[in-house]
Amino acid sequence: MKANIVILPGDGIGPEVTAAAVECLRAVAKNHGHDFQFAEHLLGGCAIDTEGTALPESTRAACLAADAVLLGAVGGPKWSDPKAKVRPEQGLLGLRATLGVFANLRPIKVHARAAALSPLKPERLAGVDILFVRELTGGVYFGEKTRTPEAASDLCRYSVIEIERVLRRAFEFAQARRRKLTSVDKANVMETSRLWRETAVRIAAEYPDVKLEHQLVDSMAMLLLTRPADYDVIVTENLFGDILTDEAAVLCGSLGLPPSASLGAGKVGLYEPIHGSAPDIVGQNKANPLGTIASAALLLRYSLNLEAEAQALEAAISATLDAGIFTPDLGGTYSTQQVTAAVLEQLQ
Ligand code: NAD
Ligand code: IPM
Ligand code: MN
Repeated sequence: MKANIVILPGDGIGPEVTAAAVECLRAVAKNHGHDFQFAEHLLGGCAIDTEGTALPESTRAACLAADAVLLGAVGGPKWSDPKAKVRPEQGLLGLRATLGVFANLRPIKVHARAAALSPLKPERLAGVDILFVRELTGGVYFGEKTRTPEAASDLCRYSVIEIERVLRRAFEFAQARRRKLTSVDKANVMETSRLWRETAVRIAAEYPDVKLEHQLVDSMAMLLLTRPADYDVIVTENLFGDILTDEAAVLCGSLGLPPSASLGAGKVGLYEPIHGSAPDIVGQNKANPLGTIASAALLLRYSLNLEAEAQALEAAISATLDAGIFTPDLGGTYSTQQVTAAVLEQLQ
């Protein structure tokens, strides 16, 4: 098949990890007789430097016209002055809103050998396979912000429609998995959470085969570390999902491993690792590329409908981990390029 894929390397280690993922996608295309065209565009700090805006119009238009978008990461100390007028992260939020990708899938799978590097006891990690569905285009990220010299505020708002559509996605994924859905909120304090919970209870009637449970976000943070194997699909609002998934990455052994897929009602999906631009290791050929390569596998699955190809790439990642070919975040001594070469070798 033919596919146009927009690559947004972004900032920090973004260009290093997207280069790795593009190499893997090229290898998949060659092995399976596909024609993938790649076009690189600017997003984030690099776009601020050259265009004065974090999401240039040319990038927006290219993403809307693409079959899928693969992103590295944006942001870094150069653009982090609290008084800055434009921020790299605004570009990413603008892109998510533009593409309408309200459901952010963040699968947390524990690979046995990598998990040995996790600070958690191995018996707690056995059988962990969680799919987070994070609401991505609403909540406090997109509410009105105010600032005076004396005070600041960020409004958290959710409409019923925003909650319903992400919950339906989560129920559908749960139906195709182990049929358990945990909805995470802060309904003991927040009005948006009470609306969220009420909506979850109502929508659950449409999915009688799925067992719905509710968990407050503070205790969820604890349970993720004490009983992670108990969870199947976890659905939650934007900010809680952001925080809980970085925590869940600890189960995998490194923040460099989990991928993500952001999907909406539109045709274009956005794929990115869950980590950031890692300014502390930029340019050292140390970044773990596997989260981005695994995001490319999700791109093959969800945007291009190439399930066999997605599985081939996931198997190559798994075999690389089986062989203990680890970047330093996993306690290894292999470089970004050596890990990528190992995945490419496995793909053959
Ligand atoms: P971070 O995820 O960039 O880094 C946290 C820690 O994890 C660092 O020690 C880093 O070296 C390590 N790490 C992250 N990814 C790694 C990888 N692939 N391989 C090896 N180690 C890895 O989080 P931060 O330091 O809080 O944020 C830095 C910048 O990244 C900020 O500007 C933030 O806004 C941005 N950010 C962007 C995204 C995104 O573009 N989607 C996501 C998160 C953070
Ligand atoms: C992520 C990041 C982003 C978020 C930032 C960079 C806007 O942390 O993708 O997890 O908070 O969504
Ligand atoms: Mn995050």
